[in-house]
Amino acid sequence: MVAWLLFVHVLSAMVWLGGGLTLMVAGLRVRSSSRPEAVAEFARTVPFVGLRILMPAVVVLLVTGVWQVLASSAWSFSQLWVRLALGLFILAFLVGAIYLSRVGIGLARATTDNRLASEGAALLNRWLVGYVVVLGLLVVAVWDMIFKPGL
Ligand code: HEM
Repeated sequence: MVAWLLFVHVLSAMVWLGGGLTLMVAGLRVRSSSRPEAVAEFARTVPFVGLRILMPAVVVLLVTGVWQVLASSAWSFSQLWVRLALGLFILAFLVGAIYLSRVGIGLARATTDNRLASEGAALLNRWLVGYVVVLGLLVVAVWDMIFKPGL
């Protein structure tokens, strides 16, 4: 049972990290594109992928992570690495759910209103920086899962 939870947990971490990295590389390509409609297309792709792929992976990751701690006698919520995991998850979730979704909505508005192309480019830059932060937090989380500081 715990092995299956770990299996699903690792798969969802791969989807979140891999999906996010792919989206970020696509964003970098859009930034250097000379086509003005590329930013608008990207602004529509982000929520499409976010809601269908990333959000479910984030929820499954948390559920299977917490479930493993509850189901296995080896892990407990008093362990430093488990607390770190929860802290990193909450931080990554907050940056994604609050900062990135607000920037994403702004980006979609700026492109549908046909406002200045420079405004879209600035918002895209902010989105990219936010995503670098999320991916950095996720890499630290993978380190934490494997090295388990405090154990
Ligand atoms: C923040 C995002 C997270 C990522 C990217 C992530 C990733 C991973 C990975 C790659 C493993 C496999 C490590 C190994 O087998 O050596 C793992 C294991 C595990 N994770 Fe997470 N995890 C995250 C969050 C969480 C959370 C929030 C919890 C629970 C509070 C949690 C609990 C666990 C447990 C109990 C294991 C099993 C450890 C073992 O069997 O050695 N994870 N995680």
